[in-house]
Amino acid sequence: MKNRSIALDGPAGAGKSTIAKEIAKLKNLIYIDTGAMYRAVTLKILNAGISLENTDAINDILCDIGIDLDENDIYLDKKCVTNEIRTPEINNTVSQVAKIAQVREKMVQLQRQIADNKDVIMDGRDIGTFVLINANYKFYLTASIKERAHRRFLELSEKGFDMTLDQVEKDIAARDKNDSEREISPLRKAEDAIEIDSTNKPIQEVIKEILSYLK
Ligand code: DC
Repeated sequence: MKNRSIALDGPAGAGKSTIAKEIAKLKNLIYIDTGAMYRAVTLKILNAGISLENTDAINDILCDIGIDLDENDIYLDKKCVTNEIRTPEINNTVSQVAKIAQVREKMVQLQRQIADNKDVIMDGRDIGTFVLINANYKFYLTASIKERAHRRFLELSEKGFDMTLDQVEKDIAARDKNDSEREISPLRKAEDAIEIDSTNKPIQEVIKEILSYLK
């Protein structure tokens, strides 16, 4: 029997991961954070000190990269990097890495492999439009840039990063632009996705709304 799949796409800070984790628990699905996968590749490239233009070196990195996910954590070459991938440095570099064709090819291959074997809810930017084009359900989650920046600012402050709200908003705007204007699989709503605007909506309300669509 074919596995069940839910695609949840949208821009940074729209609340995708919190919502996807909760739906995963309630519906007995495996949660796959595809943004975390692009972040792990970024960490590996930064640690290796490789230029993003160095195609050969990036190919070498992708050849033997180990990315594993469990319920709460992500592992890069068997090392837990859950916290390391959420720094401002990674935030500012990841959308450049996510533009690279070979990186996307490798990540999509891994993501499809996972979805072939498990019932998943996968969050990202191109899940409904490309990775899982035949997902059983597709949702596109948005929120105003002000609200998204505010959420990210609180997250970063809680982790002890010293940034202004204005800076976080600028970073998010730059990332939105990179993610939606890139050539390969840009961020956009799939035609058959259900759009939900989470501005001023409590998370529980958005979860309830999504659950109301699931049979
Ligand atoms: O969801 P996030 O903020 O952790 O994603 C990090 C970056 O990865 C973001 O700039 C867009 C990119 N990304 C992507 O291009 N495709 C995906 N399926 C998921 C994330």
